[in-house]
Formats: sequence, structure tokens, C-alpha cells
Amino acid sequence: MADLSVDLGFCRLKNPLIPASGTFGYGEEFVPFMDLDIIGALVLKGIYRNARPGNPPPRLFETPAGLLNSIGLAGPGADELQGVIRRLSATTRTPIIVNVCGQDDAEFAEVAGIFAAMPEVAMLELNISCPNIKRGGACPAQDEKHTYRLVKRVKENIAKPLIVKLSPNAADIVAVARAAQEAGADALSLVNTFLGLAVDLEKRRPVFANTLAGLSGPAIKPLALRLVWEVCRQVRIPVIGMGGITSGKDVLEYILVGASAVQIGTVNFCEPAAAVRILAELEKEMEKLRLNNLNEIKGKLAV
Ligand code: SIN
Repeated sequence: MADLSVDLGFCRLKNPLIPASGTFGYGEEFVPFMDLDIIGALVLKGIYRNARPGNPPPRLFETPAGLLNSIGLAGPGADELQGVIRRLSATTRTPIIVNVCGQDDAEFAEVAGIFAAMPEVAMLELNISCPNIKRGGACPAQDEKHTYRLVKRVKENIAKPLIVKLSPNAADIVAVARAAQEAGADALSLVNTFLGLAVDLEKRRPVFANTLAGLSGPAIKPLALRLVWEVCRQVRIPVIGMGGITSGKDVLEYILVGASAVQIGTVNFCEPAAAVRILAELEKEMEKLRLNNLNEIKGKLAV
């Protein structure tokens, strides 16, 4: 059987499959559907210092092969999440990644400090790329200078690996990726959702209160794959690829363009045990391609 483990430099995961933040709740909700120990790691839904109600409904809108969301990072706040993480870590040995949010740089650093101090937390993912908080989808990951300043500040406050989650809505995602790397990011994850617009013809209004929303799902896969490929060629740190992954083949495509691991997102909403199926498909695909391990294909796209 092929070796599915992947090396992120600062840690080794038993396989490259990581459920993406915001699509896997706080982990506990998925215990009835799958054994959490089978996945490489899991990212919890994004968290701020204090509880947040999120955006007004509607928050979801289906598109052909995609999903627009405008959740607005609703969540219980850092104190409650610490209790959830303690419970979760008693049910699984899979590395837990906390998706850290903040209204400003100081809050990002504070929230990162709280969770980096927990022994149950393996690493952090800095969510600088949610398009649903500010009008027009503005976020720190659209600006390389802000990204550098913020990542540096957070890194100075923690002694745990930091993954920085990038936005496809940046004018130059490679510049932002480089800024995060220079500021000390241990890895990058990309991409968050693409800014999109849904309209209600009868009301002649946008569907979402925030006007714009974030598009994910199979519709974005070729766009995301392109961005992952471009970033992988320009940075030294590991890249975790995501965007529209629904099959074992999709996973291998992301590894081929240079990703070290992948996150599985929107598919979790319609198929809660998707990771189990995708893992089985990945093993079969590797067998078919006579791959002994993922390094044999990683970054080997011939162009
Ligand atoms: C949201 O909560 O609005 C989506 C989360 C994200 O895009 O990071």
C-alpha cells in the first residue's frame, strides 16, 4: 500500500486530507459520520475573541457546481472554543488547527496567543482572507504590506506553526504569499472563496445583505488550481491547496501542481463523510498510477 503521509516541514501528517475551516464545524459535529482519526488534520471554524452573530440571512446561495456564502464568521468566541477543543482532543489524536480571526491586528495576535498556548492545538491558521466581513470583500490578504505586518505581529506572539490563509481576490496573490513567507509564515493555505454576486431579479436587489459573497465548490477548481500552481513556484514554504476538491483525483492534481497537502471544503456540506471516500479514492488512484508516495508526484507538473 502507498505511503500517504506528507511532510509540512514542521510536522508530518498521516495523509494530505484536511477538512477546511467553516465546512467542518468544530470537529465534534462530524463524529457521528466518520472516525476523525483517519484524516491528516482538521481545521476548526474561524474564531474571534468574543462571540459573533455573523451576517443576517440569507447566508447561502447555490450556483451551478458552486456555493456562495456570506456567513460572516459567526462563532462562540475564544473562551467557549477552548472547552470544545479540550473535549475534541479527548476523542481524536488527529492534529487540531485553529482558524484565527480578528477585527484588527491586535485581536488577531491576542486570539492566536490564546490558542497557541493550548497543548491540544497543533498549529494555527490565520484567516486574513474572509470576504464577508467588510463591504466589498476587503480583507488583509488583499494587501501585501498589511499581510507582512500582521503575520509578523502574530508570529512574535506565538510559538506554534502558523499557516496563513490567502485570498484569490488579491490583485497579486504571489506578492501576498511572499510577504507572508518573509514575515515568518510556516505554511500557506489557498485559496479562500472568490468574491461573487447573486441577484434577486424580482426584488432587483442583491441576494446577500453584504451584497458580495464568497464562491466555493467545483466551479472554482480550475481557478484555484492555477493560483496554487503559481504560488507553489514562487515560495519555499509548504502550500496547502484548496478549492473545489471532491475526489481522490482532485487531490492528486493539487499535489502535482506543488501542494504539500489539501483542504476539503464545500463537499463536506453535501457529503459529511466525503473525506473517507476521497481517502479511499486517493489510495486507488495512487495504485493505478503506481505511486509509492506523494513525493513522487509533488510539484512534478511538466510545463
Ligand atoms: C464566513 O464565515 O463568512 C466564511 C469564512 C471565510 O471565508 O473565511
